[in-house]
Amino acid sequence: MGTGRFVDVIRKKREGSTLENEEIYQMISDYTGGKIPDYQMSAMLMAICFQGMNDRELTALTLAMRDSGDIVDLSRIQGIKVDKHSTGGVGDKTTLIAGPIVAACGVPVAKMSGRGLGFTGGTLDKLESIPGFRVDASGENFFQNVKECGISVIGQTGNLAPADKLLYALRDVTGTVDSIPLIAASIMSKKLAAGSDKILLDVTTGSGAFIKDIEGSRELARRMVAIGNGAGKETVAMITSMDEPLGLAIGNSIEVKEVIDTLRGNGPEDLKTVCFGLAGMMLSMGKGISYEEGRKLAEDALESGRAYEKFKQMVSMQGGDVRYIENPEHFEKAAESGELLSSQEGILCHLNTEGIGISAGLLGAGREKKDSVIDFSAGIYMKKKLGDRVKKGEAIATLYSADKKKLKNAMSYMEECYTVGEEKPEMIKLIVDIIR
Ligand code: URA
Repeated sequence: MGTGRFVDVIRKKREGSTLENEEIYQMISDYTGGKIPDYQMSAMLMAICFQGMNDRELTALTLAMRDSGDIVDLSRIQGIKVDKHSTGGVGDKTTLIAGPIVAACGVPVAKMSGRGLGFTGGTLDKLESIPGFRVDASGENFFQNVKECGISVIGQTGNLAPADKLLYALRDVTGTVDSIPLIAASIMSKKLAAGSDKILLDVTTGSGAFIKDIEGSRELARRMVAIGNGAGKETVAMITSMDEPLGLAIGNSIEVKEVIDTLRGNGPEDLKTVCFGLAGMMLSMGKGISYEEGRKLAEDALESGRAYEKFKQMVSMQGGDVRYIENPEHFEKAAESGELLSSQEGILCHLNTEGIGISAGLLGAGREKKDSVIDFSAGIYMKKKLGDRVKKGEAIATLYSADKKKLKNAMSYMEECYTVGEEKPEMIKLIVDIIR
């Protein structure tokens, strides 16, 4: 029998015991209801960071967080809805390519995306760099857009997993973000509330991911897949490499321009490979076909131009000015730019990808505070990829910003984010593993 005092539940976890489902439900309901103060919840989060949670506890935590708010009902949209979620990365614009590919192949994409978090970019911010684009469609509009166009990408509705919103803000300032069970519960509570039938998780691994080692990423993938399947939704995880930014562009409008290039058939190979993998798996799950067949359909949709047309249709339906898609040179250019020059000759053998994401934030592409205004023109264009040869004085990247001081600051930060040496880096596969 418990005492009913939350302090005893904290102590129980701190000592390594497992919590009862009822204790977990009560904790989330009381915290969301303002009955548990932040200092006690912070202590509990830290105890979870050190002691972990078993699968039963983690499922209870996730479901309690899911049930803290609304659960979206997508049953009015015909067909199997497959959601896709990335655990975060640098230069990760896959939703904007894989989404239109999947929709062009007849599988509906009703997607709620997020904003930038820490050093990672967010799909909503990227979309909002297209003049006029609205991510705040009402429920009715969202359904209508998916029905007519096959795809719509909007922000989360106000009351989706509010417990996660509160917990995430607390984790951010208490050094408890990079905990596998806490990340798993955070992501899966939102995915389970978002109403899709099936879930594809893109679990990033490497220097630009939240969990940087492959074993940790496998564990995160395994735990999220267990939660999803345990909650009755087929869930698959793809582990993808984030040892360097995905593609060449990092920022907002600069990434949208790379999306346009890719949808027109001219994108960087690494970006295309990951997008074909993700879209192929979404099609496999949505149509009940093999992964190989799904990938083939994805490649055809891109090469035929159907995915590009679908992207334009989505932009237009959500109020975006399609002239910018047809003529990407219309996007506002950054007032300031500068080149990061290699300090020596050799092979680009390591990138601190998290640091590159932070540099993009320093340029103005991310938010310093919750209400900071994003500079859509800010960002980084990589001119070299891992394993490339560079000469002394040759450009590794071009940095863009509206503000000279920010450019200088980001430039000196990014100077520490690369290593040129003589050894070829060990390159892991882009799609490292698939966990079902
Ligand atoms: N993304 C989330 O939504 N939550 C986390 O905890 C980490 C990444």
